[in-house]
Amino acid sequence: MNSPRPARILLGVTGGIAAYKTPDLVRRLRERGAEVQVVMTRGATNFITPLTLQAVSGRPVRSGLWDESAEGAMSHIELARWADAVLVAPATADFLARLSCGNADDLLTTLCLATEVPILVAPAMNRAMWAHAATRANVALLESRGVAVLGPAAGEQACGETGEGRMLEPAELAELLLGRLRRERSLAGLKVVISAGPTRERIDPVRFISNRSSGKMGYAVAAAARDAGARVVLVSGPVALPAPAGVECIGVESAEQMYAAVHAALPGADIYIGTAAVADYRPAAVATQKIKKTAENLRIDLVRAPDILGSIAALRDGRPFVVGFAAETEKLEEHARQKLLGKRLDMIVANQVGDGLAFDCEDNSLLVLWNGGREDLGAGSKPLLAERLIGLIASVRGAVRRAPGAAASGEA
Ligand code: PMT
Repeated sequence: MNSPRPARILLGVTGGIAAYKTPDLVRRLRERGAEVQVVMTRGATNFITPLTLQAVSGRPVRSGLWDESAEGAMSHIELARWADAVLVAPATADFLARLSCGNADDLLTTLCLATEVPILVAPAMNRAMWAHAATRANVALLESRGVAVLGPAAGEQACGETGEGRMLEPAELAELLLGRLRRERSLAGLKVVISAGPTRERIDPVRFISNRSSGKMGYAVAAAARDAGARVVLVSGPVALPAPAGVECIGVESAEQMYAAVHAALPGADIYIGTAAVADYRPAAVATQKIKKTAENLRIDLVRAPDILGSIAALRDGRPFVVGFAAETEKLEEHARQKLLGKRLDMIVANQVGDGLAFDCEDNSLLVLWNGGREDLGAGSKPLLAERLIGLIASVRGAVRRAPGAAASGEA
């Protein structure tokens, strides 16, 4: 059998300080077996020399649109066809603006217009530039056209400020990109329903009981499932995140609303992933008027909220492959395994919470358990872990379905 040819990556480097990390990025991509052709903008050459990138990539670096000898060897159109993916890292605010306008005024923007393969950008800029309404609008437009935005990460910046705008680290970019190429289409043709974010259980017209979930983990899982080719319905509690492009997003508030919306979305679903931090209890009664501060003590009676995950795992007809999350402050594996078995799930994704972990932060660390299997997905950004998780779900679900006499359920 012929071994598959190496992935071909066209790496666009634009003029930001993070360009100094691109030799390492090239090295990481080549270590993982990819061929890399570097294209630099004029601005990028102020931060790093083409010779350095030529040495690490093993190919002459391209930068000019009007370079006759380079065009003679491989024209910009041939270059656009050669690649399996285009990664622009770092992608400056100016480059994102030019790409969103459809400019073709240098080699890199021309290639991006001419190519039909996936384009991924790794933004890197000052935090205020990243937060600026113009950049937000450009990024939203690019995402709506299918451009994948990797990062940026938050942290200390070259300008001395702290915030969102750092380029993701080369190792993470290489894994995200090559993992995406590998996993692309692993969920093609499947429908995936995902819950995300917190729920709010009303006490009176102005107060509620909720939790610290930001929705970041669930939204990352939704984007990863979409990138793997699935049709994704995301049922989300109240969060401050934009809906991932290409994902059907249904907003809800309470556990009961989430239960109803998830069940309404389930017909035809192949996979359910319960990432939401759903309330276990809700106030027994909701006061119709704002509760006054009269009594010294106030007691609120709570009753059980509907168990969405358990109800889906118990379905007799049309039961999807059911993946739960377990948020545990202690005995992570033991408690997660109890949930896997107790609720008769196909898979459970355990994360340690408390002490500033998992809830409302950029990174997480996941341990996945299923009937007869265990995989530690390690620590990393939520998008990176979401990609690993979706790859694992696709392969475990495939194995369960291929097993002789297997039912959809992963009963232990
Ligand atoms: O949103 P982020 O800030 O990114 O944080 C991510 C996260 C920590 C919320 C996420 O990774 C996570 O762990 N989600 C599950 C949180 C949770 O409610 O865990 P649990 O162990 O209490 O619940 C177990 C499972 O039952 C979960 O799949 C949950 O969605 C589901 N459940 C719980 C209660 C309920 N009434 N109905 C449910 O379906």
